[in-house]
This record gives sequence, structure tokens and C-alpha cells, in this order.
Amino acid sequence: MLRFMTAGESHGPGLVALLDGIPAGLPLAADDLDPMLARRQQGYGRGKRQQIEQDHVEILAGVIDGNTIGAPLALLVPNRDYANWRDREVPPWRRPRPGHADLAGAIKYDLDDLRLVAERASARETAARVAAGAVAVKLLANLGVRVGSYVRAIGPVRADVEPLPLPERVSLALTSSVSCPDKASAERMRAAIDAAQVAGDSLGGLFDVVAWGLPVGLGSHAQWDRRLDARLAAAVMSIQAVKGVEIGPAFANARLHGTAVHDALYPGDGGPQRRTNRAGGLEGGMTNGEPLLITAAMKPIPTTMAPQPTIDLGSGQSVETEYQRSDGCAVPAAAVVGEAMVALTLAEAFLERYGGDSLTALQRRLGAGDERS
Ligand SMILES: Cc1cc2nc3c(=O)[nH]c(=O)nc-3n(C[C@H](O)[C@H](O)[C@H](O)COP(=O)(O)O)c2cc1C
Repeated sequence: MLRFMTAGESHGPGLVALLDGIPAGLPLAADDLDPMLARRQQGYGRGKRQQIEQDHVEILAGVIDGNTIGAPLALLVPNRDYANWRDREVPPWRRPRPGHADLAGAIKYDLDDLRLVAERASARETAARVAAGAVAVKLLANLGVRVGSYVRAIGPVRADVEPLPLPERVSLALTSSVSCPDKASAERMRAAIDAAQVAGDSLGGLFDVVAWGLPVGLGSHAQWDRRLDARLAAAVMSIQAVKGVEIGPAFANARLHGTAVHDALYPGDGGPQRRTNRAGGLEGGMTNGEPLLITAAMKPIPTTMAPQPTIDLGSGQSVETEYQRSDGCAVPAAAVVGEAMVALTLAEAFLERYGGDSLTALQRRLGAGDERS
């Protein structure tokens, strides 16, 4: 129902997203999408590339007179850096960087120059995902759903965000250069990023994506590939460098007894109510009306100033990696990409449950069966 694909290389003319299935009648302009792209570019620890780019979306199709028309959207994010690379003679890369797609991609596609793999494997591709995701965020906002994110940990520094309500975590994160709602932890995160940079090293961390205002019953228990927890996990796991996804405090829950984990039900004014949300908003592969809480683990950035052992593909000899321009830490940026992927997945689940030829029909059906708690 909602499908999207991206195309484009890191130093090509631009990144493109095709987004098919957005209902007609959604007011949409580039100004709605650019702020999310700007957030993806920010974050303490990012490299020089972000100083070159000032991402701006061009809506090439699917919008007429400021509204979607039910046709596929074509979104272009031009690469300003393209002008610097277009005529540059770059010697072939022969030293695969550990932690990157370089070696496996070169073998698979029979490419001698590892740069040809890196161009597409690069997380620059996430600019296109965020452009599409920002459309989904706007659609969800029209359905009463808010999606947000924040950073929970960078390297060894972990923030205690539990005392803060979700909306506050999200709004405080918007004021932090590391997207962390807790000021003291944010300070220690910046110090950790600085120390890693001095050592020529990199860091990863944890980010949370949250959503609230969700109706009961998005997704389904009835078939494995309709389970929303599985689809959200796949969407978030597809982000470059994300290697773990947790729904609610899943790993902590696994150490406890069932009676300490499951969210007990009590009678309430509007029907059954829970006093806790350790399930992270999903039971049986469906939303249960509680806020969605997803945590993702991002590995440390693989490109490091400090050389790592590798081989030269020409000689087969042991050599060291050659440094390429790189972020030292990109967890705040990855959190924004996480928001985009979660918003796209939730928007798809909405359209499945309520249908989606036009925004007004979608809103009417949602209003008719509104089971939000
Ligand atoms: C927003 C974002 C920015 C990234 N920036 C860099 C970077 O500057 N340098 C780098 O080596 N890896 C960076 N990465 C991670 C790599 O793209 C990723 O590790 C690599 O493509 C291999 O994919 P995999 O880690 O999923 O196996 C970034 C990831 C994200 C999500």
C-alpha cells in the first residue's frame, strides 16, 4: 500500500526517493520536509561533508497546487558536493575498510574499485529516506500521531531518560547537539566524542524512536509478515550501522519474571487501562494503544583516523586502511533516520487498516473506529 525506494550515490548528482501510496489531499511543500533533513545533517561529531551540504528537497511529482493527488511522489535531494567530484580523477580504492560494504560488495558485483561500492553503501542515502519519512511524519500528524526520537547513549555514556515523559524527551532532544534529553549526560557524551576524535577513533550508541497517539490494532497477529513489531524492527535494522533493535525494554525484560514484566490491565473510564508500558506499545504484533518505544543500537562508525589492519587487493599484502573523510559519531543523525523509517512503517500500517485513497476518507474511518487510549 505504501512503498518507497531510493536511488543515488554519495557523490552523484543527488539522492532520489519514490514514495507510492500517499493519499490525495495531504497539503505538502518542500518546507514541510526540509527541517527533518536539516536535523539529519546535525549532531556533534559529524564530519566535514555536512558543512558542504545544505539539504533541500525538490518535489518533482505527486503534488499539484500544494496538495498530494494520490500519485507517486518523486523527491530529489541534490548533492552540492557533486560539483567538487564531477571532474576529479580518483585513483581506484584497493584497501577494503573493515566494517564497510567494501570487500563483500566488490566480490559480489565484480568491481575492482571499492569506491564504486562505497558510493551507494554510504549513509548519504539516508537523506532520501528522511525526505520520504518526512512525508509520512506529516501524514501521521494529520492522523493525530506524533513520532520523535532522542539519543539514549553514546559510547560508554548512558543517559537516564526514564523519569522524563516521552514528549519531553523528544522536545528536550531538539535543543541538544547530541539529541540527548539529559543535559549532564549530553555534556559527557560530547566529551566522549572529543576524546574519541583525539584518539583517531569513532563511537556508536543507542537511540530511541517513540510514537504516541496510535490507535489499537495496527499490524496483525494473524500472519508473520503482518506483525508490526517485526516490520518495525526490519525497517530500523535496515539503517546503515544499526545492528540491534529492541521493542520496549526487551533485553531488561528478558532477565525478569513474567509478573514483573507484563503490563497489568485495570478497569478505567474509557475501557481497560494499563499503568505501565513495558511492552513498548505492541502486543501480538499489533499496537495496543500505548506509546511505541523502540531502541536501536548503532555500531561505532567504521572509518577511523587511526589505521586498521586490512589487505591491498592488488598485492594481497597486509596494509593499513587509508582514512576517508568521515563522521566520528552519527548517532543523533541515525536517530532522525530511525524516525523516518518508523513513520513510513506506521503510515503503511495505518493505510492497511483504514484505507487511504484520500486523507479525508482516512480521517473519517479513523474517527469512526477510534480506539485510542
Ligand atoms: C547517519 C549515518 C551517518 C554515517 N556516517 C558514516 C561516516 O561518515 N563514515 C562511516 O564510515 N560510516 C558512516 N555510517 C555508517 C556506515 O554507513 C555503515 O556502517 C556502512 O555502510 C556499513 O553498513 P553496516 O554497518 O550496516 O554493515 C553512517 C551511518 C549513518 C546511519
